[in-house]
Amino acid sequence: SDDHLARIAASFTIHPDFPIKGVNFRNILPVMRDPQLFGWLIDECVARIKDKFSQPIDLVIGLEARGFLFGPAIALRLNCGFAPIRKPGKLPGKLATVSFKKEYGEDVFEIEEDAIMPGQRIVIVDDVLATGGTLRAATQLMEQRKALPVGTFVIVELLGLGGRNRVPSCEALFSFSG
Ligand code: PRP
Ligand code: MG
Repeated sequence: SDDHLARIAASFTIHPDFPIKGVNFRNILPVMRDPQLFGWLIDECVARIKDKFSQPIDLVIGLEARGFLFGPAIALRLNCGFAPIRKPGKLPGKLATVSFKKEYGEDVFEIEEDAIMPGQRIVIVDDVLATGGTLRAATQLMEQRKALPVGTFVIVELLGLGGRNRVPSCEALFSFSG
């Protein structure tokens, strides 16, 4: 509900000039300190996903590291599986990989090849949409595996950083100016 959303947003803290001067860092972690607030947050996420993607979801994908905080809880409530996309060198066995541009240099994402089956309907979950590079790379990794990334979901969208252009269909619970 709107009241729940307002109380969740009130738990977020703002940190001027973090991690660098000129950036207003929004910390959403305090919401997890209170089980009632965290429960409401997960309820809201699940309601939005069910609303937007009317057909059943087969798998939720969470992005290392902060996507791991929310993805598994959402997957449980959706009664579907969860699989992590990780940074290089952490996962065993046969992997699918994608490299992508970050603010400074390149980064790589990996997923276990057998975590995703062709044709599966997938929702990718992360904490924040900023420039969109991270979510776009994750979407490309799903397409590489012939899965159907039906959409992406974040807790917070930071406006004005181009994320909306790179990941147009992203659903966000909250939007703040970046
Ligand atoms: C942060 C955040 C998102 C990403 C968003 O992750 O958790 O995953 O940046 O940025 P983008 O839209 O510009 O790609 P970060 O790489 O800092 O690492 P972490 O999740 O491991 O803390
Ligand atoms: Mg991240």
